[in-house]
Amino acid sequence: MFNLPNSSIHGFGIDLSDLSIKIIDLKKKGGNFELASFGRQEIPAGLIENGEIKKEEELIALIKKSVKEVKGRGLKSDYCIVSLPETESFVRLVHLPLMKKEEMAEAIKWEIEANIPLSLPEIYYDWRVIETAAGARQDYLDILIGVLPQRTVDPYLSVLKKAGLKPFVFEIESLAIARALVPGGCCDKPLLIIDVGAKRTSLAIFSGQTVYFTASLPISNSSIVETMSEKLNIDQEKAKQIKIEQGLDYKNPGSLTLRALAPLMDETTKKIKDYIDYYQEHLPAAPNAQSNKISSALLCGGGANFAGLPEFLTEKLGFPVFPGNPWSNVFKGAPKNISGLSSGEALSFATAIGLAIRGLKE
Ligand SMILES: Nc1ncnc2c1ncn2[C@@H]1O[C@H](COP(=O)(O)OP(=O)(O)OP(=O)(O)O)[C@@H](O)[C@H]1O
Ligand SMILES: [Mg+2]
Repeated sequence: MFNLPNSSIHGFGIDLSDLSIKIIDLKKKGGNFELASFGRQEIPAGLIENGEIKKEEELIALIKKSVKEVKGRGLKSDYCIVSLPETESFVRLVHLPLMKKEEMAEAIKWEIEANIPLSLPEIYYDWRVIETAAGARQDYLDILIGVLPQRTVDPYLSVLKKAGLKPFVFEIESLAIARALVPGGCCDKPLLIIDVGAKRTSLAIFSGQTVYFTASLPISNSSIVETMSEKLNIDQEKAKQIKIEQGLDYKNPGSLTLRALAPLMDETTKKIKDYIDYYQEHLPAAPNAQSNKISSALLCGGGANFAGLPEFLTEKLGFPVFPGNPWSNVFKGAPKNISGLSSGEALSFATAIGLAIRGLKE
């Protein structure tokens, strides 16, 4: 989405979060993709807060450092594809009556005004018609609209340019994640994708060939640590250690962690179920999907490594939930353990990998 001119250039993927910068660059060799470079740079708290850049100079210096210090062959281009915080973006599916292509652009403006709490001069947007199955007749058009507020995009654009980069696509995070996780970019049953990040957790529903719905969930790695610290009366460092070493301790009926996190986990599962119900009741099945019923979920983000979380969600949601393979469209076969980037760590790079795949395809 949000292409700037000249879209035939190679770009690397850069995922900017409140607490980290993640970079992936891919290259093509023969018919295959290869990992060219990757890097992760932690961002100290306070530089970006809830997606808002607070300390521009320091962030610029960190972006330059992360670009310079990537592992692998090094970045050959300044062009990059960027994702921005999901909480700031909107993805909406709208139905329109059949109409001529020239009329669509105008109709979409009306839909945006009606559905999005920002006015047209305040946003960047893009849209695409969801293809119907070959031969299927439909008396309306399904159109996916993606919107990013200018007040979110512009400060990042400015910072990245000042760091010497040339951002040429800004993409909504869930679209990048889906490009990494959904094998072949297509599934015949709707799939739930949950990105459990340091500060934010987002949910996306993917069906057919696209994301149909996105939402935020009330849990994150930070809220897990804060809740454990408060309920178990331990400091946050200790809580982090238990989270990584023991996880949810889900199989243990006496698990203190599970008990401490029960209200947060219950609230999260309730929200997930509500979104599933909303999707199944209100949104159309993708043209090439067998049904609208969600029957599996993939996790990504560092929190997908939280031991016991997949099992917990599997039991509560009643269908299989497991960590996705963010390399599914890059390498053939099982997730690779790349030197310096284990398959567990790669779960944090799902967004950056999806951006990099687009960077190669553009
Ligand atoms: N084995 C593990 N168990 C539990 N948590 C883990 C594990 N490994 C990593 N994490 C957590 O994952 C988080 C980092 O995830 P990720 O890199 O996806 O976040 P982010 O993209 O920087 O944040 P956000 O998307 O919220 O802005 C950290 O909070 C880290 O503690
Ligand atoms: Mg993230």
